[in-house]
Amino acid sequence: MPRLLAVWRRGRKGPQRGPRPPADGLTPQELAEVAGAVERLSHGLTRDRRLAGARYLDDERLLGAYLLFYWPVSYLQARGVLSELPAPPRTVLDLGSGPGPMALAALDAGAALVTAADRSERALAAARSLAEAAGKKLATRRWDGARAQPLAELCGAARPDAVTLGHVLNELGSGESALEARAALLGDAARLVAPGGSVVVVEPALRETSRALLAVRDRLVAGGLAVRAPCLFRGPCPALSKESDWCHAERPVEPPAVVAEIAAAAGLRREAVKMSYLVLAPPGEPWAEPPPGRVFRIVSEPLPGKGRLRYMGCGPEGRMGLALQEKHVGDANRRFGALLRGDVVEVSEVEPRGDGLRLGPGSTVRVLAGAGSPLPPGGGGPQVGGATGGGPG
Ligand SMILES: C[S@@+](CC[C@H](N)C(=O)[O-])C[C@H]1O[C@@H](n2cnc3c(N)ncnc32)[C@H](O)[C@@H]1O
Repeated sequence: MPRLLAVWRRGRKGPQRGPRPPADGLTPQELAEVAGAVERLSHGLTRDRRLAGARYLDDERLLGAYLLFYWPVSYLQARGVLSELPAPPRTVLDLGSGPGPMALAALDAGAALVTAADRSERALAAARSLAEAAGKKLATRRWDGARAQPLAELCGAARPDAVTLGHVLNELGSGESALEARAALLGDAARLVAPGGSVVVVEPALRETSRALLAVRDRLVAGGLAVRAPCLFRGPCPALSKESDWCHAERPVEPPAVVAEIAAAAGLRREAVKMSYLVLAPPGEPWAEPPPGRVFRIVSEPLPGKGRLRYMGCGPEGRMGLALQEKHVGDANRRFGALLRGDVVEVSEVEPRGDGLRLGPGSTVRVLAGAGSPLPPGGGGPQVGGATGGGPG
């Protein structure tokens, strides 16, 4: 946050009166200014969506709002998803980087060669300043996703082992043709990454943008690409069969206090680290074998009902409800009461009930991978029963 605040203050025009502001927080005057811009940005990106695809980061105030409010959340999302890859990437191309939260997250996660690409020169300049302040090297390139520009031109000789796209896909066009164009872009990105590499897409956890991502995922899967995360189901996404469903992840991490302070001043809900995401493998790489047994990723929050607890799970056999009655809770299934959205679990001794599965007193619940952790090959290292928590997020 101190670096974000310093870069923001340096780029800010206009008179700055009063005593020196704190390095890790905002003065009341600054807070009012940023909150006003965040309100505009939030309305334009998540409500009427008039700013989606517009050049809002070329506006100094909106770029400031992005840096102080959205940037930290994108950064945490990126750290969360990068921690799910089979190995930390060394060479990364960040498309639609804006001021670089995904790029900086990749650098902080151990990447050595990172290129941030965006059409906003102002946003790229902010990304360079942030990298410099962190003592890291970041290359930047102008990139316009609306033009058919070969991605290989952006990263020179080094083939990336990850291409990241944070909150940009939903800004590339609209309607059916946009879904095709987005799938084509991700297909190009998947062909660019080195063997074993990944294409990492993070999108807002909004119904419309999430469903659009799932529709793009279905096109790519139908074309033969394998999904590394979050999907364990290899067919068309079951969340798309019902208009009201979508799929998002949540990580148990708190954004910095400044973000909460800005949210309160702008009259917005506090930002949680929620997102829809997709990690794709390059062409030719098969889907990883799921761990044996009845395995599900938890794709809902806990859904308490009369005398029972339910979650939605999505696994190799599809998306379905998993329910356990209170009277059937015992040592081997106690963990069920504390599952997090994103956990991958194996359940045993279940029986079909309604449109899902019912756990009973003899059921076991094993967390194979906590939310945000990679699935161990073959599903090893599980936690059985009640005691310990999920992954780091
Ligand atoms: C919501 S910001 C995301 C920034 C950052 N990746 C993140 O995860 O927070 C969307 C970014 O996409 C960029 N963008 C939108 N349309 C674009 C296009 N056609 N070509 C290149 N960049 C584009 C914008 O300039 C902006 O930086």
